[in-house]
Amino acid sequence: KANKEDRYAELIPQIESLVKGETDAIAVISNIIAALKQTMQWIWIGVYFVKNNELILGPFQGDVACFRIEYGRGVCGTAWKQNEIILVDDVEYFPGHIACSAQSKSEIVLPVCSAKNEVLLVLDIDSDKLSDFDETDKKELQKIVALIRNVL
Ligand code: SME
Repeated sequence: KANKEDRYAELIPQIESLVKGETDAIAVISNIIAALKQTMQWIWIGVYFVKNNELILGPFQGDVACFRIEYGRGVCGTAWKQNEIILVDDVEYFPGHIACSAQSKSEIVLPVCSAKNEVLLVLDIDSDKLSDFDETDKKELQKIVALIRNVL
């Protein structure tokens, strides 16, 4: 997996300089997602915003996805409820997993919080490979979360 670390080492500074100077949240989030999609082999990358006590689909790259997710439902709703990063090695074994795509095999969801530690949105990434996410992704993607937080 050294390969993956190398890709992140190259990508994160590129994304940092890409979004530097832009303050609009949707614009920054959209380009971050596009940059991730171009570099990584993931099938779906996107965000869901917390609005009126549910998650609503925001910018993404990949197949058409569900518009709304209830609090505590699916991987996204669980990451929101628990306010923690969730790694799922095999979505078939995650209770209540919401299958937007039959190709999705593993998933990582990272909450993005306000200064008061309230979840404002979640970043959801799906892979068509089993166990595609690990501690490296968790660590590196938190740098992406920090960039998003900067523009909220
Ligand atoms: N799988 C997610 C739902 C969103 S999509 O996969 C894009 C979940 O279980 O929360």
